[in-house]
Amino acid sequence: MESMIRDIKLAPSGHDKIAWVKNFMPVLNHIDEEYSKTKPFAGKKMVITMHLEAKTAYLGLVFMHAGAELAITGSNPLSTQDDVAAALVEEGAKVFAWHGCSDEEYDTFINKALDTQPDIIIDDGGDLVAHLHGDRKELAKNIIGGSEETTTGVIRLKALAEAGKLNFPMIAANDAYCKYLFDNRYGTGQSTWDGIMRTTNLVIAGKNVVISGYGWCGKGAAMRAKGLGAKVIITEIDPIKAVEAVFDGFRVMPMDEAAKIGDIFLTLTGCKDVIRKEHFAVMKDGAMMANSGHFDVEINKIDLMAGAVSKRPVRKNIEEYKQKDGRKLYLLAEGRLVNLAAGDGHPAEIMDLSFGVQFFSALHILNNHQNMDNSVHLMPDEINMELANIKLASLDIAID
Ligand code: NAI
Repeated sequence: MESMIRDIKLAPSGHDKIAWVKNFMPVLNHIDEEYSKTKPFAGKKMVITMHLEAKTAYLGLVFMHAGAELAITGSNPLSTQDDVAAALVEEGAKVFAWHGCSDEEYDTFINKALDTQPDIIIDDGGDLVAHLHGDRKELAKNIIGGSEETTTGVIRLKALAEAGKLNFPMIAANDAYCKYLFDNRYGTGQSTWDGIMRTTNLVIAGKNVVISGYGWCGKGAAMRAKGLGAKVIITEIDPIKAVEAVFDGFRVMPMDEAAKIGDIFLTLTGCKDVIRKEHFAVMKDGAMMANSGHFDVEINKIDLMAGAVSKRPVRKNIEEYKQKDGRKLYLLAEGRLVNLAAGDGHPAEIMDLSFGVQFFSALHILNNHQNMDNSVHLMPDEINMELANIKLASLDIAID
């Protein structure tokens, strides 16, 4: 089957990007060296649906070196990097993705990848699994299991499992210590601000930054905003997280209040309609909004448009919504995860651990699927310890 990508001639810069991240991914390098010899995935077909940039491409290559036959798609229309996709094709993967694909194309790409009839899947956000429980459920019987990268996908998986409808075992890679403690917190914390800063080219210091959600991602984003000199306000729905935010030194208030004060709004909740009509109505002229949660549903774009007289791009990845009363509100990266849609995602050193978790989760499925029921499993804890030890060794840090 032919790959579907934007342009194979873009491959050279994709190869350069992959080579760059390899320099900072000692855990994956270690795994690559070891498992390219033993090839545990030989004869197995794998589909990965993930943000298709250089770190993900390297994970894909590590699986291929370990014997897997790989088909890969993006997990968001704006996070695919076309040069990286082209480089992966040259490396022998089947790739179905391009940057800025329509919703229909996005579905087509997942279906094309599934046409390869995978044995193992790796999902990010739950769209691949949704297809395997919907229009492609006939393929589910071939699948020995898989793993899921992010909080939103894990929530969707647990809902399926609780309804008794999950068709194969899945590992919640997101819920491994070596994933969420570093990726969600420090990865999202840094890369979200990288995305916002490179997109706006504005100063963060002195601004009122409203962060919705004080979970793992929100904590990281708030910590880094504070370090950049912002005046940080947290909105939450969970009283315990709200108390935590207070003791971490932040102001906490409802969005109804925060909406009037904020200069920059950032959603990281995994929840719908966090910023909506009544909030847009009271925002200051020039207020900016971005989302780093998995789906583009946290800032209600339909409400935003309904209150606007015009919408126009004013800079790459920034749209101005001019309100009926003349105020201008700005939305970054169409409300899609700003760190990936307007940046390169998490730093390589962080994804090194997350993708170590992904590799060992897939290996665990490969070796143990016969004894795993169709529910959501945790990666065994000893693997967290092993990954942390490899990371420490790569940093030349010893412990007692
Ligand atoms: P989490 O479950 O640790 O935290 C979410 C927080 O949002 C919770 O404290 C919850 O009480 C709060 N919340 C829910 N609805 C709210 C509302 N309406 N207003 C205010 N607060 C609300 O989840 P985590 O791990 O922080 O992930 C958050 C989102 O970010 C998920 O969609 C996840 O998939 C995504 N994610 C994105 C990444 C990226 O690269 N941009 C990386 C990792 C996760």
